[in-house]
Amino acid sequence: MAPRYGILSDINPATGDSDALAEVEAYLRRQEEMDLLRFITCGSVDDGKSTLIGRLLYDAKLLFEDQLASLEKDSGKYGTTGAGQLDLALLVDGLAAEREQGITIDVAYRFFATDRRKFIVADTPGHEQYTRNMATGASTADAAVLLVDARKGVLTQTRRHSYIVSLMGIRTLVLAVNKMDLVGWDRATFERIADEYRAFAEHLGLVSVTCIPVSALTGDNVTRRSENMPWYAGPTLLGHLESVPVDPGAADAPFRMAVQWVNRPNQDFRGFCGTVSAGSARPGDRVAILPGGHLATLARIVGFDGDLPVATAGQAVTLTLAEEVDVSRGDVIAAADARPEVADQFAAHIVWMAEQPLLPGRSYLMRLGTATVPARVTELKHRVNINTLEHAAAKHLDLNDVGACNLSIDRPLAFEPYAASRALGGFILIDRQTNATVGCGMIDFALRRAANIHRQAMKVDKPARAAALGQSPCVLWFTGLSGSGKSTVADLVEQELHRLGRHTMSLDGDNVRHGLNRDLGFTDEDRVENIRRVAEVSKLMTEAGLIVLVSFISPFRSEREMARELFADGEFLEIFVDTPLEICERRDAKGLYRKARAGLIPNFTGIGSPYEPPESPELRLDGARDDPEALAAQVIDIMRRRGLL
Ligand code: ADX
Repeated sequence: MAPRYGILSDINPATGDSDALAEVEAYLRRQEEMDLLRFITCGSVDDGKSTLIGRLLYDAKLLFEDQLASLEKDSGKYGTTGAGQLDLALLVDGLAAEREQGITIDVAYRFFATDRRKFIVADTPGHEQYTRNMATGASTADAAVLLVDARKGVLTQTRRHSYIVSLMGIRTLVLAVNKMDLVGWDRATFERIADEYRAFAEHLGLVSVTCIPVSALTGDNVTRRSENMPWYAGPTLLGHLESVPVDPGAADAPFRMAVQWVNRPNQDFRGFCGTVSAGSARPGDRVAILPGGHLATLARIVGFDGDLPVATAGQAVTLTLAEEVDVSRGDVIAAADARPEVADQFAAHIVWMAEQPLLPGRSYLMRLGTATVPARVTELKHRVNINTLEHAAAKHLDLNDVGACNLSIDRPLAFEPYAASRALGGFILIDRQTNATVGCGMIDFALRRAANIHRQAMKVDKPARAAALGQSPCVLWFTGLSGSGKSTVADLVEQELHRLGRHTMSLDGDNVRHGLNRDLGFTDEDRVENIRRVAEVSKLMTEAGLIVLVSFISPFRSEREMARELFADGEFLEIFVDTPLEICERRDAKGLYRKARAGLIPNFTGIGSPYEPPESPELRLDGARDDPEALAAQVIDIMRRRGLL
C-alpha cells in the first residue's frame, strides 16, 4: 500500500519541520512496495503519551546508537524517573526549551518499522490551545492512538481530541487506557472506560474503535502481552497497529491526479507531473482535464526509471496525452467516466491557525490540490465548541477555533468532499500579505448558489457608457485616519472635476454608513464588510462611466488590495492622506478623539484599532505640510499625468 498525502503533508507551520519529513517521504517513495501506517498520538502531558511512544520505539529495538547515548545523558539532566533509569519521554519531547517547560509543543514526526509494517507517528501536544498542531498532525494520519489515564477515564480533552481526529477524516481509533498498573490491573475499571468511550465515538462517526489496557511505563500490552491482565484477550498496541487496514478504498477509487507542474524540456515532450491521489490509470485510458472538462487519452506514464504500465495511488509520475489539450498547474486529471465535481462555492469546516482572526469577507489564498485561488468566507455559520460540540454564533474565528462556513473562490475548481478525498477535499488558507498558512479546511459539499446564474452580456457596456460621457472612468480611493482630511480633499477634487465638466460620484464613509452600510459597526469584521461593499459599489459606478471618489478610513491593507483587484490596471488610484495621529487628534473636528480617549468609543482607529498605512500608494498627500487646496491640486495633477483627464 502506498503512502497517502494529506493536505498538510508538506508543511508544518509551527516547526518548519518540512525537510526532515521530506526526507522520510523520499525514502518511503523508494520503498513503495512496503506497507506504511501513519498515526497520530493524542493525550495530555500527564497521560504518559511520550513514554508510550518512547516505549514503542525502544521495545521495537529501533533506536539508533547515538539517540540512545544522548538519551542516557539527558535522563540524568532532566529525567523524572530517577537516577540510572532511562526516561523514555525524553526521546520524544524534541526541543530543549520544551523539556525545560515540561510540555510538548508543535508536531514531531518519527519513523519506525517492524517486520510487518513501517510507521510514521505524529506526536502532538495535549494542551488545549494547540488544536492547530493536532489538526496538522491528524491531517496526514490513517489512525489515531488516544491515551487516557485509567485513574481518570474519559475527560473533556479526550472528547476534544476525538472530535478533531474525526474532523480531520480519521476513522480508525485506538483508545489506549494507560497506567493500568496504578489501578491494580483492574478489569472493571478498563471496561467502564471502554464502554463510555465507545458510546461517545459512535456519535462522532468513528467507525473502528479498539480499546486496549496498557502500561506504557512497564510495557504491558504495548509491544508484549501483559501477564498482569490475563483477562484481556485482544491485541497488543503494536500488534494492532501492525494489522489495521490502511486507507481502504484509495486504490479502488476513480483515477485522480492534480497537476503539480508542466514539464516541457523540448518541443517534442509535454508531460504533466503530479502525485496520483486515488485510483490507477494506464496508457490508452480516457481522462478529463478539470475544471475545463476537455477530454484526452493517456499516452505515456513516466516514472523515476522510465515508462510504467500503470500509475497508482501514491505514485509521483509524469503523464503525457495523445491529444494537444491545454493543461496547467492546478488542473486535475481524472477518469473521464467518473469525474470530480467542479464548483466555486462550498460549505466547509475550517480550523483557524493564526493569531490574527479569520474575518469573513477578507480575501485569502486557498490552496486546494495543486491549485491556488483567492477565496473568502461569505458566511460564518457557527463556531464549534470543541469541548462540548455545541454550536455558537460567531463573527470571526480566533486561533484554534473550529468553524462551519460558506466559502466563495474566484474561479471554479475540481474538488471532492473531504470525507471522500483528503487530496481534493482538504485545503489550506494563506494570508495574502504575509504568505503564512493561517487555516486549514475540509470541504463538506458544493453550494449551487451561482451555478445557474450566468453573466449577461450587454450591448451597451462600460466603454460605450464612458464614451457617451466623454471621460475615462476611475476610482480615487482616499485612505487615512479619521480627521486626516480625506473628505475635505475629495470634495475639493470633485468640485474641480465638476468645473472641468466631468461626471463624478462621491462615496463617503460617514454618508454610506447612514444608508447601505447602516447595519455595520467598527469591529474588524464589520470594517472588512464595509470596504467590500463600497468597493463593489464603486466598481458598478465605474461601469456606469463615472469618476468615483471614495473616502473611507479603510484601515486594512488586505481590503484595499481586494478593492484594487476589482479594477483594471491604471483605473484604481490609492491616495494616502498622510496626516499624523497627533494632528488629527488636535483638530478633532467631530470631537470623536476626545470621546475615544475617554474610553467612550472602543475600536477607534488610531487608538483602540489599528491603521495599516499603504506601502506603495499611487499618491501620498502630506496632510501635515500642505493645505487642502494644495493637496487637491496634487490629485488633479496625477490624474492629468496618468491620462485620466
Ligand atoms: S472604516 O474603517 O470602516 O473604513 P469609515 O470610513 O466607514 O471607517 O467610517 C469612519 C467614520 O466613522 C469616521 O470618520 C468617524 O466619523 C466615524 N466613527 C465612529 N466610530 C468610529 C470608530 N470606532 N473608528 C473610526 N471611525 C469611527
